[in-house]
Amino acid sequence: MELELKKLCSSLGMCIKNWKVDGDQANRRYILLGTFAVFLLGSLWLVTLESRDPYLMSMPWSDFFPYGTPTIAENPMTNSTEEPVIKATYLKGKKAVEQFRNHLACFSESGKWVYDTTPRHMPWNSIGDTYASGCDSRHQWTGPGHVSGDQAEAIAMEGDPKDWLVREELKWVWRTNSSCTFWPVDRDDFCKRIGPKRNVMVVGDSINHEIAWSFMNHLVLSGQGYGHMSSGDRSNDGVYEMCGDIFGAGNGFKVAFVRNDRLSPVANISVDTWRNFYEWPWLDLLKEYDVRLLLLNRGAHYEDDKTFVRALRLIFTILSEHFPHMQVIFRNTPPGHANCSFYHEPLSERQHSDLPHGYHWEDFYRQNKLAAEIVKEFQYMYMDVDTMLSLRPEGHITDTDCLHYCLPGPLDLAVQYLYNILLLL
Ligand SMILES: *[C@@H]1O[C@H](CO)[C@@H](O)[C@H](O)[C@H]1NC(C)=O
Ligand SMILES: *[C@@H]1O[C@H](CO)[C@@H](O)[C@H](O)[C@H]1NC(C)=O
Ligand SMILES: *[C@@H]1O[C@H](CO)[C@@H](O)[C@H](O)[C@H]1NC(C)=O
Ligand SMILES: *[C@@H]1O[C@H](CO)[C@@H](O)[C@H](O)[C@H]1NC(C)=O
Repeated sequence: MELELKKLCSSLGMCIKNWKVDGDQANRRYILLGTFAVFLLGSLWLVTLESRDPYLMSMPWSDFFPYGTPTIAENPMTNSTEEPVIKATYLKGKKAVEQFRNHLACFSESGKWVYDTTPRHMPWNSIGDTYASGCDSRHQWTGPGHVSGDQAEAIAMEGDPKDWLVREELKWVWRTNSSCTFWPVDRDDFCKRIGPKRNVMVVGDSINHEIAWSFMNHLVLSGQGYGHMSSGDRSNDGVYEMCGDIFGAGNGFKVAFVRNDRLSPVANISVDTWRNFYEWPWLDLLKEYDVRLLLLNRGAHYEDDKTFVRALRLIFTILSEHFPHMQVIFRNTPPGHANCSFYHEPLSERQHSDLPHGYHWEDFYRQNKLAAEIVKEFQYMYMDVDTMLSLRPEGHITDTDCLHYCLPGPLDLAVQYLYNILLLL
């Protein structure tokens, strides 16, 4: 019987023909019934989907973080009679909060890129990421003909400013006006501003991965450090102690990175290579690692505005309900650049036209504005690096990757921004 069916169905056409010609009444009835059942189940499924939140609907079919599906807070501040605050900081009251936000805005609005060839320390000594240092033959962390550690440090710290030997894109600094001086990172002070055992987690896409790497590079001492960060295997992250030299071994803090392009509260790994979304669970680790400072981003892996807004509201709702004592900073998303390898210095104005299609770079500016509003509603901190980095077409990795940056490089600005936020807290 089975053999016979196989033979019959050897081609679809044959199969259909055979059912029609030879199939008995019973078979036809089963097929009819089956089709009807599938139709019914399908409709039920669609009705269930329709009644779900559109953002939740687009989530991968894995179960949510144990807290369950929350009711997304629409506008958490609208009816609040409480004073505005910046959550988990001492900043409280309309005036203090406004001052803080204006100070951050001033970093962007009053600043410009200035060429400065004064030799100085650069955060490239210890940790290597071969992709991000690929464009740098002089300071790549390892390999023949490249230098690292003390040798790299010597190049950065010495020399005649006229012919300072570092890559061109490392010579530009963001200079703001005197109302909001944008300080260079002082490593020891950075450690202290974060504080003993105040563990840090960075969650987001590959750009946040680069920032996490740069962050650790700013903190580790020469000769310390470890090989390579992995976005997949979480066992490598969050286990390295930073600033133990300042606080005493065992009292430093840890820095973890988790890749989650949508900041989704998934409980299981979801990899959608077709749409290019990598989502690792991370909410469980906030507790496990006792995270006190969280740096988030989503944006470069584009989804439409409605989905984007829902995603942010959802995750901020969960965070404010379950982690009220955690400081949260949301970094915005700078676009990549058209023809990046043709540029050798910063732009005076962001690129508006001729952006390559397909990446939605032209949509980032609009979505950043949406994000800024939501971050404000939830009383978190907003880090605008787009204003600065949209002006940095140079220093990207290759002419086929005009989104990521070489490290050290322009993206180190995000770490400097973090330091400057901490100076205000
Ligand atoms: C998610 O992971 C948990 C345990 O880690 C497992 O019990 C559950 O079946 C998984 N769910 C899905 C949809 O894979
Ligand atoms: C604000 O108050 C109005 C009227 O009392 C109510 O309908 C609405 O749901 C409240 N919104 C929030 C976010 O609590
Ligand atoms: C600095 O720039 C900000 C924002 O553009 C402006 O509000 C402020 O008045 C400026 N301060 C000085 C001292 O020029
Ligand atoms: C990039 O290069 C192409 C081809 O040379 C040119 O048509 C386009 O205008 C350039 N775009 C920008 C933003 O420079």
